[in-house]
This record gives sequence, C-alpha cells and structure tokens, in this order.
Amino acid sequence: METVVSGIRSTGKLHLGNYYGAVQNFVKMQNQYNCYFFIADFHSLTTHPTPANLHGNVKQVLVEYLACGLNPEKATLYVQSDVPEIAELYLYLNMNAYLGELERSTSFKDKIRNNPENVNAGLLTYPVLMAADILIHHATKVPVGKDQEQHLEMSRTFGNRFNNLYQTNYFKEPFAFNFTQNLVKIPGLDGNGKMGKSEGENNAIYLSDTPEIIRKKVMKALTDAGPTQQNQTKPPEIQNLFDLMKVVSTSDTLQHFEQLYQTCQIRYGDFKKQLAEDMVLATAPIREKIIDIAADTVYLQKVTQLGAAKARESASKTINEVREIIGFRAF
Ligand code: TYM
Repeated sequence: METVVSGIRSTGKLHLGNYYGAVQNFVKMQNQYNCYFFIADFHSLTTHPTPANLHGNVKQVLVEYLACGLNPEKATLYVQSDVPEIAELYLYLNMNAYLGELERSTSFKDKIRNNPENVNAGLLTYPVLMAADILIHHATKVPVGKDQEQHLEMSRTFGNRFNNLYQTNYFKEPFAFNFTQNLVKIPGLDGNGKMGKSEGENNAIYLSDTPEIIRKKVMKALTDAGPTQQNQTKPPEIQNLFDLMKVVSTSDTLQHFEQLYQTCQIRYGDFKKQLAEDMVLATAPIREKIIDIAADTVYLQKVTQLGAAKARESASKTINEVREIIGFRAF
C-alpha cells in the first residue's frame, strides 16, 4: 500500500484554504492509504512563538484535525516534535542542500520580503525539514495545496541526491497529490490571490469562525461596480468570490449567479449573502465538533501518545537504515 504524509504548521486556526487544499484530502485518503498526518511544530519555530502560544496552537490544529474527521485509528496522527528522528534526518539532508537552491525557493523569497528582520537559517532550510518529514516514512503521495508544489520538487531533489551520493535507491520520489486533476489554490476575500493566515484578519474564513463572523467577513469582501457588458471577463476580486462559491456551494447555485453575472443582472449583496450562508453550512458541523473535542484533554492525550508511538516506529526504522547507509557503524 502506498504511503501518504502531510502536515500543517502549528500557527493557529485552520482556514478554508487549509481545509480544501489539504485536510479534506487527508480525510478521504485515510480510508485508502497508509497515512501519516502531523502538526508541524518544528516548522512553526521560524516565527519564534512563546511557549504558551506554541502549545496552544499545536492543540488547536490537533483539535481541528479531529473535528474535520481525521480518525486516529485509521491514520497515524502525531505532533512533529514527538518524533526526534525527523530532526536527525533533517541534519543529514542539510549536508546535501545547497545555498543557491534554497535561496531561490519562492516561499523563502516571499518570507524574507515580508519579514526582512527575521531571515533565520531555519527559514532558509524549511524545505529540507519538509523533505525529512516526507522521506522519514517513505511517502510517495503528499496531499497539499498548490503553494507547496515547489517544496515537493525540492523533496525529490534531496532524496535523489542522497541516493546518488550513497549509490542506493533507498528514498522514493514523493509527489504532491489532490483527488481532482489539479492542486488547489483557495483565494482570499480581499482580492489578493491566496487565502492565508498572514494576509490580515479579513482575508481568511476560519473553520472555527461563528456564522456571524463569517457573514460579516463575506459582506465586507472586495467587489467592483458590477458588470457592464454581457459575457465580460471577471476582474480578479470577483473571480475569487466565484472560485470560493465553487467549493462551498452546489453547482446549481454557482450556475445561477454565473448566469446573472453574464447578463449583468447580478446583485453583489445577494451573491455574497448566498456565499456566506453556504460557508456557514460547510463549516457548521466542524465548528461544533471543535468545541466538544477541545474540552476532552484525556482524549487528546491518548491520540497524541498513540500517534507518537506509531510514527516513531516507522521513523526509527528509517533512521537506523540511513545511519547504516551513511556509515555510522558500531565498533
Ligand atoms: P501550511 O501550514 O502553510 O499550509 C497547510 C496546508 O494548507 C494548504 N493551503 C492552501 N491550499 C489551498 N489554498 C490556500 N489558500 C491554502 N493555504 C494553505 C497548503 O498547501 C498546505 O498543504 N510546509 C507546509 C507544512 C508541512 C508539510 C510537511 C506539508 C511541513 N512539512 C510535509 C506536507 C509534507 C505548510 O507550510 O503548510
């Protein structure tokens, strides 16, 4: 059976981008593959969280994973820092990752542009740690959104480079995965491309947002003065709202508003109201579960202990074999 690995950084609440780009696929994949899903808390250290924030955010992601339907009996569900073998593999892979290629990564360039005062080495080698996450379990499929595609290419490069250096075919090539033909990119509400945590409070709809908050954010979303010609191409901020409708609404609803837009009869107030209600419907069952699961500390403890044990079993096997390949041998 093919192995699947994926994770989400523990930087707080999950938004619709995380859900439709990643977690929705995790939930489906757990029934068909050997799955490892984790909370990337090593990765979140690049932004220097306080200990209390770090712990709170790890809990938040864990609770939301479970609320979305991840089943710890089917998939191995763990916290990255509970598996120190990942950090060891990261160290070995760092020896074959070159400054030039790391500096060229799009996400590194974005991050240093947005935070020029915190260009740390962890940020530079972020894709190496991702490769360690994936290669430690020999995954071949990695469910992620479109923004992670380049990181997957780098994971293949680092694995292949290790194989070439030690003349082995030990690591398999991992590929980004989505059930649909293309990887997903969920747009934000502010007209700027991608839904994301760092794009401001009104850009993202969180799974834990109340219906009132969802309605308020959607009604504030950027629109224009409306179409003036039949069948005209939509400007990006309008296309984004239609793209969001495509994921949360029925195809009939989408077609209805598409038709109104093409005939210049659309009223953005009605359009946004419908979009908000469909977002409320899509998130309501998850939001209710978030509240219940967060209160059950004993269950969360059980889930993380079980996950850590299963993940370490697989990871320590890999690390022992990697040490042998590299030449760390007992006297
Ligand atoms: P992170 O936390 O930024 O995002 C988690 C997942 O959500 C997806 N995503 C989106 N998908 C579609 N549209 C959006 N607007 C959107 N925003 C976020 C991301 O593509 C991602 O799948 N580096 C990873 C975490 C990670 C990881 C790994 C993933 C660490 N190690 C190993 C896979 C395998 C990240 O930054 O995720």
